Parts: sequence; structure tokens; C-alpha cells
Amino acid sequence: MDAWRTARPEEIVLSRDVGRSPPPHLTENWIGAAFTEGAARTAAQEEALRISDELVDEVLRSEVIVIATPMYNYGMPSHLKAWIDQVIRINRTLTFDLARGEQPIEPVQSGKRLVLLTSSGEGCFGPGEANAERNHLDTHIAHALALAGVSETHRVRIEFQEFGDDRHKASVAAAYSTARELARRLAKATSAASTLSAGRFPHRELATQTKHCVDGSDLGQTQSVPHETPRP
Ligand SMILES: Cc1cc2nc3c(=O)[nH]c(=O)nc-3n(C[C@H](O)[C@H](O)[C@H](O)COP(=O)(O)O)c2cc1C
Repeated sequence: MDAWRTARPEEIVLSRDVGRSPPPHLTENWIGAAFTEGAARTAAQEEALRISDELVDEVLRSEVIVIATPMYNYGMPSHLKAWIDQVIRINRTLTFDLARGEQPIEPVQSGKRLVLLTSSGEGCFGPGEANAERNHLDTHIAHALALAGVSETHRVRIEFQEFGDDRHKASVAAAYSTARELARRLAKATSAASTLSAGRFPHRELATQTKHCVDGSDLGQTQSVPHETPRP
């Protein structure tokens, strides 16, 4: 955040601590209200969507979304899942139209960047690594937020927290330096092309990977692993 604020001092930064102030879980009323046309909603339905409206507005205004989260049971904490359920909304962040064929869902916006800062007790959760298959954290968040207009995801992992060993120390050091560099890079990139557009956009994923998980040596090196995930 310091690197970002230095590069973009004029920027408005909105902060949400969903751990300390968890958004409510979805209810039957919420779903009924979300699938009712705005003009036809009752006052109770408007009320059911009030928090969601606020959170969706924040996301729609954002060019860059930074999520810092621990891994719980190989996925995200339920507080964060509750936030995602509140912000991914039919006719607000996405539209659904069967006339589109096999891909009826389309995000309303595109071009947002997501920075995912994750922490886990175990390690080697990167693509191609030993625990990749158990990683339901960053893949889940990145795919869900594509429906809110995220077109590019950057992942920075801190791993092996429960071991507290050299692998952990190396991953903390690498994550801090990667995050700082990323903040500088994104600050430049978003000021150069800061228009959020509507419609479809290729989804790019840029990950950092700890090299020791690939070849069992060389602690703490990070590398960017760009891989294209075409969005419909
Ligand atoms: C309830 C709970 C579940 C966890 N599940 C996992 C897990 O599935 N895999 C893992 O690698 N670490 C797991 N951990 C460890 C945390 O991800 C790890 O300690 C992380 O660094 C915590 O981040 P924090 O200090 O920011 O809360 C779990 C921790 C807790 C408290």
C-alpha cells in the first residue's frame, strides 16, 4: 500500500475488513430480490439488497482490487466468500442471456486488475506444484471476480507459515518485494490506461511461483508465470 500511495497519492483507496465486519450470508429473500427487476422490488426486497448495493458500487468504481486472505481448509474464509456472494450480482456486475449460447454469462465491466495476496500454513500451491490440486483459494476468487469485471489477476503467495522455516522466510521476503514492485507497475499501468470498459476482455493471470516447489531447491526465488485464460 505504501508503494501504491507514493505512486498515486491522489487516488481514493477504499478499505473493507471482511474478517472484522463480515457481510451477511445470502438468504432466500436476497436471491428473490436480486432476480426481481429493480422497479418491481418491494421495500423489503430493496432492504435485503442494501448492503449488496453498497459493496457492488465499491467494486464497480474500482480499477484495482486487492484481496489479502489466508487459506482456510484449502479455500477462502467464509467471510470473504460472503463478500463475494454479495458483490457478484445479476444485472449489476453480470448479465445472463441464453441467446449467447453455451456462455450465457457476461460481465458488465472489464479491465479491472485483481491482486491476490494469500497466506497458507502449507506450501507448493502454485500451478504445477505438489499441492496445486488442493488450492481452491486463488482460483476460486479469480474466477468469481471475473464476473465483476476482473480481466487480469496477479497472485502473490506467502507459504509454509506453519513451518516457520527458511521456506517461509524466503516466501515472505519474496512476497513483499513482489508486492512492492507490482504496486509500482500497476500504478503506472492504470494511470496510462485507466478506462474500465464494458463487455468482453481476455482474462490474463500473472502468478508468482516459488521455485523450490518446482525443482526442490533454490529457496524463495519468484518468477512470473503469465498464462492466458480466455474469457468467453
Ligand atoms: C481455520 C484454519 C484453517 C486453515 N486451513 C489451512 C489449509 O487448508 N491449508 C493451509 O496451508 N493452511 C491452512 N491454515 C493456515 C493458515 O492459512 C495460515 O496460518 C495463514 O498464514 C494465516 O494467515 P493470517 O495470519 O493472515 O490469518 C488454516 C488456518 C486456520 C486458522
